[in-house]
Amino acid sequence: MTPSLPLARRALRVLQGAAGVLGARLLDRRRPLLVGWAVTNRCDLHCSYCDRPVAADRELTPEEALAVADDIGRSGVTLTNLSGGEPLLRADLGAIIEKLRDGGVMVSVCTNGRLLPRRLEEVRAANVLTVSIDGPEGVHDAQRGTGSFRSAVAGLEAARARGLRVRVHAVLTRHNLDSFDWFLDLGRAHHTALTFSPAQDFYLASPGVADMVPVRERYREFMDRAIAAREAGDDRLGDSVACLRYLRNWPDYQPIGCSAGQIFCRLEPDGALHSCGAVVADEHPVDVRQGLRRAFARLEPKGCKSCWCNTEVEMNLLYEMRLEALASALRTVTSVALGKQPRAAGVA
Ligand SMILES: C[S@@+](CC[C@H](N)C(=O)[O-])C[C@H]1O[C@@H](n2cnc3c(N)ncnc32)[C@H](O)[C@@H]1O
Ligand code: SF4
Ligand code: SF4
Repeated sequence: MTPSLPLARRALRVLQGAAGVLGARLLDRRRPLLVGWAVTNRCDLHCSYCDRPVAADRELTPEEALAVADDIGRSGVTLTNLSGGEPLLRADLGAIIEKLRDGGVMVSVCTNGRLLPRRLEEVRAANVLTVSIDGPEGVHDAQRGTGSFRSAVAGLEAARARGLRVRVHAVLTRHNLDSFDWFLDLGRAHHTALTFSPAQDFYLASPGVADMVPVRERYREFMDRAIAAREAGDDRLGDSVACLRYLRNWPDYQPIGCSAGQIFCRLEPDGALHSCGAVVADEHPVDVRQGLRRAFARLEPKGCKSCWCNTEVEMNLLYEMRLEALASALRTVTSVALGKQPRAAGVA
């Protein structure tokens, strides 16, 4: 069990990651540096924009999942984002996190927060937790289910009290675009960074999402405020200005260097590897159990024209070698590697 790896080893993995991005971009050497791993499709909520819970079927057994986690470490992956469904529903999540950390991989976990107070010891080895909070209680509960706001905030507070690094992610819909100041207050009160993505009609989105997509002009006003705050140095905004500017253009397509299948990939609960979550329905999966590096080499990335998830946009800007995205990634990765809490601007 290794809650914190020696600093030199972590620094080396970060440098390997940076070299990997350069190699992929300049020398066309594809290799997985970031893995988005949906460890389960099961969920204890059924948010109005998400159909993950109805997709539940086969998932890797605990033995298979540990072997995959071990393989991810041996493949030199820099960061793995564990998501779902609700990842905390996997009883072996703690063992998966520890196996990844033992392999030198930085780990983030994206959760609805409900089970966090009961599972803190198991997730404490993760470098960062992202809790999904969509706005004030009424808005959040309307989108994510009655009582889900209080349990998300309780999870956030419990994780913070345990000294874990926590971020908040919000899905922007037509119902929370008036809440920008509320989000800033949340960031100040809980010392967390905030990230945003528009509600998308993508793979496994609920048909209900169609009634929730933001009104474009109001969405852009929200993002303009986020850009202005980030430009003014407010570090409650967790994404780079370049990423916020890109997302601001939703839903109008903007060309972006797609790094899916070049430096990152998406792993589904049953072990199916894809280049990106956005193209799961259009792509032949490759079974990860043959080995991550081998499976990754067999991917046939096609890219797409609908890049609206903040983590993928940041990754693509990095891949494009945009200086600002590089600086932002370096700042995040360094503070994560050093185990620092993000400081919320304006907090004494
Ligand atoms: C699929 S969830 C899995 C992790 C966890 N269950 C949670 O809710 O945080 C990952 C993120 O995707 C977001 N999400 C789900 N459906 C979405 C959609 N249709 N458009 C945009 N984001 C969505 C969630 O709100 C959450 O922040
Ligand atoms: S967004 Fe997360 S919590 Fe909500 S239904 Fe989807 S997987 Fe479950
Ligand atoms: S959403 Fe599309 S453009 Fe963006 S990383 Fe995925 S495949 Fe590439």
